[in-house]
Amino acid sequence: MIGPMGVGKTTVGRKLAKALKVAFVDSDSIVVQQHGPIPAIFKDLGEPIFREFEEAAVKTAIAAPGVVATGGGAVMSPKTQAALKQTTVVYLSTNGKHIGSRLRGGTRPLVKNGVADWKRIYDERKPVYEATADYIIDTSDQSLSATVAEIRKRLNI
Ligand code: S3P
Repeated sequence: MIGPMGVGKTTVGRKLAKALKVAFVDSDSIVVQQHGPIPAIFKDLGEPIFREFEEAAVKTAIAAPGVVATGGGAVMSPKTQAALKQTTVVYLSTNGKHIGSRLRGGTRPLVKNGVADWKRIYDERKPVYEATADYIIDTSDQSLSATVAEIRKRLNI
C-alpha cells in the first residue's frame, strides 16, 4: 500500500491481510520497533535519518509474503521505488475529504499545520505515487471496508 498520510493504508492493509489470511506489516511500526517513536527520530536525528531507517524497514517488510503498508513518504526514495518493482503496488488515493479528522490529534511531524501541510505534501508526491502504482484505488467516496473489497476485486485476490 502506498499513498498519503491518513488515507487508511494501515487499516486497509490490515483488513486485507486478514481477509487473505496472510501477514500484515507496517513500515512505520518496524521503524518504531527498531529506533523508537517517529516524532523523536525527526526531532533528534532529523528527517534524512528517518528516511534511511524507513528504506531499510520497507526492504525488510516486502521481503516476506503478505500485505505491507508503507509510510506516506517512503516512495520518494529511489531505492524504495526500485525495490517496489518486485511487488504489487496499490496506491490509495483521496480527494482529501476525510483527512482533517484523521490527522487531528495525531503526532505526525510533517503535518504540524494540519490539512494545509498535508495538501502541499500530497500535491508534491502525487506524480510519484501515480508512477509507482500498479493499481490506483480512489478511497474518497467509500468506507475502508469497501476499499478492501475493491482491491480484492481489482486484483482478483
Ligand atoms: C510520513 C508519513 C507517516 C510517517 C512519518 C512521515 C510522510 O506515515 O512515516 O510521519 O512523510 O508522509 P503514514 O503515511 O502511515 O502516516
